[in-house]
Amino acid sequence: MASRLGMLIMCAMSLSSGAAAQTSAPANPVAIIPAPAEMKRLGREFTLQESTAILVQAGVPEVRVVGTYLAECVQAACGLKLPVEDQQVLELTRIPTNRIFLHLVPANPAVGDEGYGLSIVPEGVDIAAWRPAGLFHAVQTIRQLLPPEDGASAAARRLPCVQITDRPRYRWRGMLLDCGRHFMTKEFVKRYIDLLAYHKLNVLHWHLTEDQGWRIEIKKYPKLTEVGAWRQATRDDEQPRDAAGRYGGFYSQDEVREIVAYAKSRYVTIVPEIELPGHCVAALAAYPELSCTGGPFEVSPNWGVCEDVYCAGNDRVFEFLQDVLTEVMELFPSPYVHIGGDEVPKTRWKACPKCQARMKAECLIDERELQSYFVRRIESFLSSKGRRMIGWDEILEGGLPPHATVQSWRGMDGALATARAGHDVISSPTSHCYIDYPQGPDPQKPDFMGFITLEKIYGFEPTPGELTAEEAKHVLGAEANMWSEYAPQPLIDRQVFPRLCALAEVTWSPAERRDSGDFSRRMSAHYKQLDALGVAYYIPPPQLASPTTQFAEAFEMTFGPTFEGGEIRYTLDGTEPTKASAKYERPVRISETTVVKARTFLPNGRESEIAGFQLGKKPE
Ligand code: ACM
Ligand code: ZN
Repeated sequence: MASRLGMLIMCAMSLSSGAAAQTSAPANPVAIIPAPAEMKRLGREFTLQESTAILVQAGVPEVRVVGTYLAECVQAACGLKLPVEDQQVLELTRIPTNRIFLHLVPANPAVGDEGYGLSIVPEGVDIAAWRPAGLFHAVQTIRQLLPPEDGASAAARRLPCVQITDRPRYRWRGMLLDCGRHFMTKEFVKRYIDLLAYHKLNVLHWHLTEDQGWRIEIKKYPKLTEVGAWRQATRDDEQPRDAAGRYGGFYSQDEVREIVAYAKSRYVTIVPEIELPGHCVAALAAYPELSCTGGPFEVSPNWGVCEDVYCAGNDRVFEFLQDVLTEVMELFPSPYVHIGGDEVPKTRWKACPKCQARMKAECLIDERELQSYFVRRIESFLSSKGRRMIGWDEILEGGLPPHATVQSWRGMDGALATARAGHDVISSPTSHCYIDYPQGPDPQKPDFMGFITLEKIYGFEPTPGELTAEEAKHVLGAEANMWSEYAPQPLIDRQVFPRLCALAEVTWSPAERRDSGDFSRRMSAHYKQLDALGVAYYIPPPQLASPTTQFAEAFEMTFGPTFEGGEIRYTLDGTEPTKASAKYERPVRISETTVVKARTFLPNGRESEIAGFQLGKKPE
């Protein structure tokens, strides 16, 4: 499907794309996240009008689908209903006036599988890619270039003129969503697929089974969801969801198919995670005969690591897991299936005659090797069905199965060892990628989590520097992990955003393009886009500029920079600050022991958590 026009455009781009710098300074801010690989600002704008049309390369259905999606995005952003029309590519020698033209071009190393060229000039817009995925990513760039203004205003229709050649640094750009600890609705999962796509992320790692809940219908084992999907509530904000007063939920196979199809339409692959041999108490509550002790069990109402795991000495367990995985593979076309493999206590295996007999029969010297045996057996089953297995870095212990991909979470040593062993790896260390950890002081979270700030994730390097160039090819990319013990559905947005924006840039943009000052300038504009998408991102509570809260005579109460156009309101009498409380404008002199409570308020009505400080006189 070569287009002469496309080739001309791609050619012109590679000639003109030496500098990533933005040249002139037109009116609209250009704040694309993740930053494109190469971009030139051209000055001036292309204005969408009632008469603008979207042209799609005739005869390629996927291009029409992306063109139609672009029309929907434009309508949502600024109300214009643009027609989508077929265009014979070979008839064109230049971008037609007042048209947005989407088309494919021959294989081009400048853009690869997922990249694209985007040229916006005052007369029209050209979007060229080798694959439809690239066109789709270009649409996300256009969505971010449309100003987040009131849709009816002329300002909402102006696209700044740019020339972009873009492609991802890594092919695995993911987020884990833990629907095991807390069930999340089908609509919510779809919304997250959209938010991933908006940031050019392409993997949703869907954590579907846990000690606290089994979330996917398996026809052959109905009790997995009749029993395993429900538990007694474990937090004050968990409302019972079934007639028996239990908390939980699950996805029917029809709902899973709907979500998988939706993800496909957004160029996002869903990688299902079915945990084994541990983190499976919800399954054992339904089928206790799969354990070492025989139970009984209840779906775990507690967080943490449970001792009860699948029995490694019972062939019935492998039959069960193969049946489950067979249904899972029918639902998910992903080439990869994640099997967990993390945090498997060996207590039950040590005391179980069947597990000990297995170790003897298979000449396994310890329970670590028994775990490796378990995982290898599952890996060879998945391989026999043409799928690739991923496991957390514990699967390195006792020997890695032949074709396994490892997700490194306990630091980056697992990533290093895996790549050196010639296996593929996904980097998601707790130090940088655990977006369930707090961003600042948070009394709801356990202390061991520490803080992971936006800046910290922005500084993450998924490829360990010690690897040779050849070994480094095994680093597929990175993932942000959104575990949900402390974040049921309503709290997910503020954990994920803005930090997912940083992970998007880490995984998409070239390493040499990384610039934290530029990123934070772009984030300022991007928050408005997130507002328009209804994302309830984290708003940092006010911070005192001084590290100490003690004083001899008096304290100059000074707050650090206010978040993005917000204002700080505070009280000195211990009450909760409201919009009517004193506004912080300049340092405030305090000479008595005082409890300060302060909060950031944004113009859009959203507010931060309250920060509290006790200011006191130094002991004499
Ligand atoms: C994990 O956080 N247990 C993979
Ligand atoms: Zn056992």
